[in-house]
Amino acid sequence: MKIAVVGTGYVGLVTGTCFAETGNTVTCVDIDQAKVDKLKSGRITIYEPGLEQLFDRNIKQGRLFFTTSLEEGIKDAKIIFLALPTPPGADGAADLKYVLKVAEDLGPLLKDYAVIVDKSTVPVGTAEKVQKKIALGAKVEFDVVSNPEFLREGVAVDDFMKPDRVVVGTNSPKARKVMEALYAPFVRQGNPIIFMDERSAELTKYAANSFLATKITFMNEIANLCELLGADVDSVRKGVGTDSRIGKRFLFPGIGYGGSCFPKDVQALAKSSEDANYEFKILTAVMDVNETQKTRLIPHIKKYFNGNLKGKTIAIWGLSFKPHTDDIREAPSLYNIDELLKEGAILKVHDPESMDNVKKVVGDKVQYSHTPYEAAQDADAIFIATEWPEFRTPDFDKLSSILKNKVIFDGRNLYDLNFMKEQGYVYYSIGREV
Ligand code: UGA
Repeated sequence: MKIAVVGTGYVGLVTGTCFAETGNTVTCVDIDQAKVDKLKSGRITIYEPGLEQLFDRNIKQGRLFFTTSLEEGIKDAKIIFLALPTPPGADGAADLKYVLKVAEDLGPLLKDYAVIVDKSTVPVGTAEKVQKKIALGAKVEFDVVSNPEFLREGVAVDDFMKPDRVVVGTNSPKARKVMEALYAPFVRQGNPIIFMDERSAELTKYAANSFLATKITFMNEIANLCELLGADVDSVRKGVGTDSRIGKRFLFPGIGYGGSCFPKDVQALAKSSEDANYEFKILTAVMDVNETQKTRLIPHIKKYFNGNLKGKTIAIWGLSFKPHTDDIREAPSLYNIDELLKEGAILKVHDPESMDNVKKVVGDKVQYSHTPYEAAQDADAIFIATEWPEFRTPDFDKLSSILKNKVIFDGRNLYDLNFMKEQGYVYYSIGREV
């Protein structure tokens, strides 16, 4: 099948590459000339484990193409994916200007029946708006379908190739057939393609992300309570998560959720509710709790240093909003960096993938270290903001010899409490005994 993907951001590039992998011919369209030139010359523009290999292979085999021309990109395409940014506008609602602009441009360019697919996370009712914009200039039949993506950064290729489910919103039998054929290779294990109307599909995406953000936030509050009641959140988490109605995943407490999706989608769903004259109270609470959770360890740090962080050197391990990505959008690390700098601390930071991105935002206000040990050298404390696997079993003997103080503030609960005691560390984590 011939497919076009408009927008070569994170979602677009993963979508385009993975559809090429199952034998489709895919052309990705982007207005950014420099980006398209880079992609055309075989250089990938995002970091995502496993993607580069697929990207290389499909370019070499002549199934994956890039262009800045919408007309050229959609030529003969049976399916046109819109994977465009929907940033939050000033009022918190998703801004549809990019999606609707492309929809308008698309109309006159359609030469034959095509299925236009909204892949971006968009508010309920967007498929209808896209439909109207395309109809302004279209002279042929077309359908607009909502097909939200549920990819997690860091494991996006796996999530795409083996999805738990595929959600497709359409009332058109013709579009349904096209989407069924496209996704058949991805649902061979019996994982379902769930068909529904467009509005329900659009809401499903927001509901899923908001539910997961709520699940994490609930556990963060349980963790905070554990600290006050002398309970251990690790035990509570296991005790709760083994109930199959609750499930083990997304129950890990920490210094809040970040990234480009949860914060934006929770906010957008709250705004959609407000616009519909419904006060979605849980979402307001989730946003409030997450905001304070990000800097949950700061009071402990201040207390440990008797209220004075001036001139104290703190090593920050992990900067990306989660492991296996270079993405720092809404990363809790950045909020902590701000707070610690305000207090006069000297920061030595390390992250395996995201330091270049952090440099663009934080500049030379912090020192960048090539390894976690370089950051810890002569530091007064370590602060862990992201659970990269390489931080899980560091050489504690080495650390003990290079740190000024054996104290770790861990926002991701990486270490066993007894082990840390044996090692002689003062160890603060989330929801556990100090
Ligand atoms: C999330 C969803 O998981 C995807 O299904 C969805 O497609 C995507 O948003 C999107 O809308 O595009 P992502 O933001 O990549 O994916 O990352 P997650 O793995 O969901 O993690 C989000 C945040 O929650 C991270 O900051 C992570 O540290 C935090 N988290 C996650 C916890 O604090 N505890 C947990 O137990 C799990």
